[in-house]
Amino acid sequence: MINLVYTGGQVMADERLIAALDVHTMDDVKRLVTTLGDSVTYYKVGMELFYGVGAQVVTWLREQDKDVFLDLKLHDIPNTAAGGICSLMRLGATMLNVHASGGYTMMKTACDRMHAEAAELGVKCPKLIAVTVLTSINQDDWRDMGLALQIKSAVVRLARLAQKAGLDGVVASAQEASLIREACGKDFLIVTPGIRPAGSDTHDQSRVATPTSALTDGATHLVIGRPIYAAADPKAAAEKIINEMETFYDYNPNPLPHVLLWWRDRFSFFL
Ligand code: C5P
Repeated sequence: MINLVYTGGQVMADERLIAALDVHTMDDVKRLVTTLGDSVTYYKVGMELFYGVGAQVVTWLREQDKDVFLDLKLHDIPNTAAGGICSLMRLGATMLNVHASGGYTMMKTACDRMHAEAAELGVKCPKLIAVTVLTSINQDDWRDMGLALQIKSAVVRLARLAQKAGLDGVVASAQEASLIREACGKDFLIVTPGIRPAGSDTHDQSRVATPTSALTDGATHLVIGRPIYAAADPKAAAEKIINEMETFYDYNPNPLPHVLLWWRDRFSFFL
């Protein structure tokens, strides 16, 4: 898979980078997306922004030709979750998510109905991924909820369940990426937040990884918020991260030598 997106000019985006739009108004969204320009093609819209401004944010991003990960983490009975996912699918998002703890039947119903409805409408079906265990939950919270397994074991178990239900991948911390990769194989998406370029502020994230280490451990997408939107120069910050990402490629047990990958990606517009 080619990750680099040639945008017609000097700037290359990397479709594995998902910039978190953790802002509150459409004016803030437009300012940030315009500032980042061609450097970023994929944005994450979370519940705070979506509940604040509504579906117009997805419509506007799609009009700018941007991909949208709609991170609304649905969790309800199968029929309701599936209905919610189908409504979000119709907005044109690229990726949607549910909580894996909603169970196999919920995930499978949502996945099957989304695929059936997309086919009926003749639209591209979004990717559907599952949140395994929130990275904010520590072992004490976990035990208080009456759960006996180690968190890491639960993450792998939920990732396997999501895969069995037909989902495309999971959201997980980079620390869990290699275990999930091993359990779920090379085509499973692993979307990792908590990414910090070396030497940068970790903010409130406790289990952070650099772009390089997350990709090395098998992450397919990196969700990055404050290191980009709170930087003095967001575009320069995004491009620095993209440069770091460019030295790493898809998880592949037999990777091409880096020199070949370098040539492949520089001349991929001929492919
Ligand atoms: O600013 P920062 O890079 O920490 O932002 C990470 C983004 O990923 C935020 O939008 C946050 O809500 C989201 N996220 C996370 N941890 C999770 C799931 C989502 O940080 N487990």
